[in-house]
Amino acid sequence: MHLHRFEKIWLMLGAGGLALFILLLCVNAFAMGMAPPSNMEMIDPAKVLETPPFDKPGLKQVGDQEYDAYMTAFAFGFSPTKMEVPVGSTVNFHVTSPDVIHGFQIPGTNVNFMVLPGHINSATYTFDQPGEYLIICNEYCGAGHQVMATTIIVK
Ligand code: CUA
Repeated sequence: MHLHRFEKIWLMLGAGGLALFILLLCVNAFAMGMAPPSNMEMIDPAKVLETPPFDKPGLKQVGDQEYDAYMTAFAFGFSPTKMEVPVGSTVNFHVTSPDVIHGFQIPGTNVNFMVLPGHINSATYTFDQPGEYLIICNEYCGAGHQVMATTIIVK
């Protein structure tokens, strides 16, 4: 088969462009460790309940008006069951699951993420308004899904 010289050049440019595109895609997808920003840290999902700090979930004050909330989401509940922070507090939620995928949503805020077994999923929120904030699971996780909730009290 005879190809015109310009045809060959165009074919090579096309193939080269495609190869470059796939290469960039691979670099972006794998080499740079791309993952949803909330899923960067992992622990052994089978040992969640014995891995600090998730063995003793709770609030830890880390600044003047800042707290770390280490929580577990499990079938069917959250731990700790009740938390309380002063108005104006910034809370960094760190949540993981020992069993299946759960959701973590605080209605009325922008906190809404999936909780994957063994992944430490995080979100930060500043509670400027006093109130009782409901934390709910919004991923169907089994028979007790609809009762899976806890609260954080801001006052
Ligand atoms: Cu946990 Cu739905």
